[in-house]
Amino acid sequence: MSDSLTARIDTALQPIINPRTGENVLTSGQVRDIATTTDGKVRLTLLLAANDDATMARAVRQAVERVEGVAEVRVDVKDAAEFAAARAAATSAPASGGKRAALPVMDAAPQSARTSAPTPVQYPNLGKIIAVSSGKGGVGKSTCTVNIAVALAKMGKKVGLMDADIYGPNIPQMMGVNSPPPVDGEKITPLEAHGVKLMSLGFLIERDQPAIWRGPIVMKIITQFLRDVAWGKLDFLLVDMPPGTGDAQLSLVQAAEVAGAVIVTTPQEVSVGDALRGAKMFQRVGVPLVGIIENMSYFESPETGKPMAIFGTGGGKRLADELGVPLLGEVPLYPPVLQGGDNGQPIVVADESATAARKLTEIAAKIAAF
Ligand SMILES: Nc1ncnc2c1ncn2[C@@H]1O[C@H](COP(=O)(O)OP(=O)(O)O)[C@@H](O)[C@H]1O
Ligand SMILES: [Mg+2]
Repeated sequence: MSDSLTARIDTALQPIINPRTGENVLTSGQVRDIATTTDGKVRLTLLLAANDDATMARAVRQAVERVEGVAEVRVDVKDAAEFAAARAAATSAPASGGKRAALPVMDAAPQSARTSAPTPVQYPNLGKIIAVSSGKGGVGKSTCTVNIAVALAKMGKKVGLMDADIYGPNIPQMMGVNSPPPVDGEKITPLEAHGVKLMSLGFLIERDQPAIWRGPIVMKIITQFLRDVAWGKLDFLLVDMPPGTGDAQLSLVQAAEVAGAVIVTTPQEVSVGDALRGAKMFQRVGVPLVGIIENMSYFESPETGKPMAIFGTGGGKRLADELGVPLLGEVPLYPPVLQGGDNGQPIVVADESATAARKLTEIAAKIAAF
């Protein structure tokens, strides 16, 4: 029974060719470790090289999903170069049980891609590209990005929102969309919510998949999002970056002309220290800082409307002063902001008179004027 399921999966994967190599994903060993359960759960590994088309993950998953008897598919995407390196380290003997040929790309070390940093490409149709970054996760970077994007759209701007957070691509949920974007020929059609066009890594990776989209793979996806998504003509493209100063930040500034970076922090010193490092990275690569957002500045009670400092105060202001950039605004910690994020109704839509919504709208106006 499970034998025939495996055979059917093999058959389903036959037509899937890697456009880069012209080889079938199965015979080339790009798809491997196919495991099935008697109740139709399938798990497999897909190796992606830096210059492979990232949408192959979806193509593979969809092909397997269509197989009779398959209930659930999980695709673990791995970096082909990292996989090869790990393998070489794990075994000194030649690959055992290797009835499938190794990928020709495996010797392309991630570092080689890095040393030949590509020159940024101009994307005049994307308008101003604004990176939203933070030192730490959980400071409200995505929340701010979503609300600023929607606020800009409400001001009549044409806005795109690109979710490049490899660790927690949660923009779709915050915007209330969850269907994968349709592909029209060469281009991916962005989804649209609250007047904003959006594209997310969350559409490409599995929900419970570890963040293995590193290095050149991140570069690849970011380039693909810039180039292969039918954004149309935008005034602003906001990019929700992963926290820190990692590959995604570098990839973005290498791939495109970034007009400015916005740094989100909370008032605590730990958060401010990390944010400072993140901000300096953008300055080093010549990306101007639009300014600092201090999120969760103070608690605002929904019952009484009273402000209450809970994390200390002034971290955002100190950071802005140290960097010589504006403090764009102080956004209160306000429970309806969280609820709005969970159910896809950003606070600037759900309750535009709330202090948090007003602050975020003011911040959006400052970014628009930058
Ligand atoms: N100003 C705020 N008031 C209330 N909750 C907030 C606020 N900003 C963020 N949150 C909540 O905090 C959590 C982390 O925010 P998120 O935007 O996902 O952070 P990050 O993108 O920096 O990891 C989310 O549950 C979000 O709804
Ligand atoms: Mg986030």
